[in-house]
Amino acid sequence: MQQEIQTHFKTAFEQDVYKGLTEEPKHLSSKYFYDKKGDKLFQDIMNMPEYYLTDAEFDVLDRHKEEIISLFSEKNENFNLIELGAGDGKKTKLLLNYLSEKKIPFKYLPIDISQNALDQLKNSLQIELPTVQVSTQQGTYFEVLADIAKLTDTKKVILFLGSNIGNLLHEQAISFLSNVQQLMHEDDLFFVGFDQKKNPQTILDAYNDKTGITAAFNKNVLARINTDLGGNFNLEHFLHWEVYDPETGTAKSFLVSKKEQHVRINQLDLNVSFRPWETIHTEISQKYDDKTVAWLAQQSGLAIKTQFTDSKKQYKNYVFKKK
Ligand code: AVJ
Repeated sequence: MQQEIQTHFKTAFEQDVYKGLTEEPKHLSSKYFYDKKGDKLFQDIMNMPEYYLTDAEFDVLDRHKEEIISLFSEKNENFNLIELGAGDGKKTKLLLNYLSEKKIPFKYLPIDISQNALDQLKNSLQIELPTVQVSTQQGTYFEVLADIAKLTDTKKVILFLGSNIGNLLHEQAISFLSNVQQLMHEDDLFFVGFDQKKNPQTILDAYNDKTGITAAFNKNVLARINTDLGGNFNLEHFLHWEVYDPETGTAKSFLVSKKEQHVRINQLDLNVSFRPWETIHTEISQKYDDKTVAWLAQQSGLAIKTQFTDSKKQYKNYVFKKK
């Protein structure tokens, strides 16, 4: 029987879930992992020994903080430190701490898709760094760019940490980097973290922990459909599966249906059928090398001013300027 096509959606989440589960092959975006439960699971991931990215970037910032800060504040002039996808701000606090110690004038503007993450960040900063001026904004990366563009009279330093860029396909990354490039002025800087290609086993282990935290993180999108959209997914009937292609540097996550099953999503008036071992693609976590980053920058009208790496050379932060 042909399903009637639903056209009225109250939220982007409803629309994206409808589209992703009626297309072939099925897909759901990793941006929907992050509700209150998902934020907590991602914090657990950052604390796992296998998930080397957080420690590696922390090491980059710690080793090079002096040089990084002097780039941000060249003439000791005031600047806006804008962070896209701030999350819990653990790594950024290292820089904020150093900036406030040196009494460098700046304002911190964290942006995140999760209001919950922003509230927690703001509360913790009030306690840990009460002198830092903070103004938070909720939204997706693309939604908030227009508001950032309005900050014209003060130097902008835009942070995009955690290899969050890795969730974007190269084509999407170029469009995102180009959008940021367009709102930059001559002195503005764009500071971006890129996880590097490395031993494929290290990457697989980071996204495939034995404790099942990453599996629960991926399955949280199904849990969210259950609670927010009246779905009846049984999470145990799906398997989290990770692959890494060392040629392209793409880590890809799937939820795989362990059997034939039928799921009802009341709020979308939608019945979804799964064949045994049918997949839902949920996330990509792209890994990079210098050549790829240079190509992305060139395609986006950005010039690489400098780059920093950690002691194990697992991870790099690049500083971009407008070309
Ligand atoms: C927050 C997008 C950088 O892709 O490494 C962690 C999310 N997914 N484990 C990543 C994630 C599974 C993470 N980013």
